[in-house]
Amino acid sequence: MEISRWALLCFLPGAFTTPAFAADAQKIFSQGGSNPGAIACSTCHGADGLGMPSAGFPRLAGLPADYLTKQISDFRSGSRSNPIMLPIAQALSEDESKALAVMLAKMPSPAVKPVNRAHVAKGPGEILALRGAWDRNIPECVACHGPSGIGVGATFPPLSGQSAQYLKSQLNAWRQNTRKNDQDDLMGHIARSLTDTEVEAVSQYFAELSK
Ligand code: HEC
Ligand code: HEC
Repeated sequence: MEISRWALLCFLPGAFTTPAFAADAQKIFSQGGSNPGAIACSTCHGADGLGMPSAGFPRLAGLPADYLTKQISDFRSGSRSNPIMLPIAQALSEDESKALAVMLAKMPSPAVKPVNRAHVAKGPGEILALRGAWDRNIPECVACHGPSGIGVGATFPPLSGQSAQYLKSQLNAWRQNTRKNDQDDLMGHIARSLTDTEVEAVSQYFAELSK
């Protein structure tokens, strides 16, 4: 009886196609891809996909799928230059990268404190985040990254929910021209206009919104 029921399941059209797709992404995430160079993402990005703050490994959970696929392809092309992610991105097939992005986008995001623009901004980090520095053509970060920096669509990634170490490393990557994957140099212009103290303060500010 049992055996014939299983046999019947196997012949149901589609019984294995959909779950196999989802299972692949889960497998690559926790065990690695078909090419051994695609090291299991969870090793560095955490089993919950929330990253490892002290090592500067970013959160991937809850980031928009199109943003994630863009970053993987930018690592591959070198417009976002990183020695750790380059070989991993190269080892992922197009299908694996897409499946991972869809799965990661559905993983739960960290909770974030709500802050709206009417809030009285205190300190250099919060002033930049909520008001910008228009005398130097720096728009407020929330204008693009959304209230509390939760991200807007697939173009503007969340800043809250990332660690201060990671945020700072990305602002510095733009200042050093190792990350140049943004359209029209929007972030490049902003990052290069910030002082070291401002980079530190604004990174700290967004990181603390998810604590
Ligand atoms: C050995 C550690 C390591 C492993 C394994 C790893 N990553 Fe990364 N990942 C990093 C580091 C470090 C960065 C930050 C790179 C930078 O500074 O630009 C990063 C960044 C990323 C980003 C950019 C996130 C953002 O907010 O822009 C994506 C997407 C990503 N990794 C996807 C993956 C996927 C998918 C896998 C599994 C196939 C994976 N990573 C495996 C270390 C790792
Ligand atoms: C005019 C729109 C705009 C404004 C204003 C803006 N950003 Fe961005 N930012 C972007 C875009 C677009 C990206 C994604 C680029 C890409 O495709 O990788 C980005 C990405 C980032 C990232 C990388 C996030 C990650 O997951 O890797 C950081 C960090 C960042 N912005 C910080 C800031 C800070 C801090 C401010 C305010 C001082 C700011 N941004 C203001 C458009 C903007």
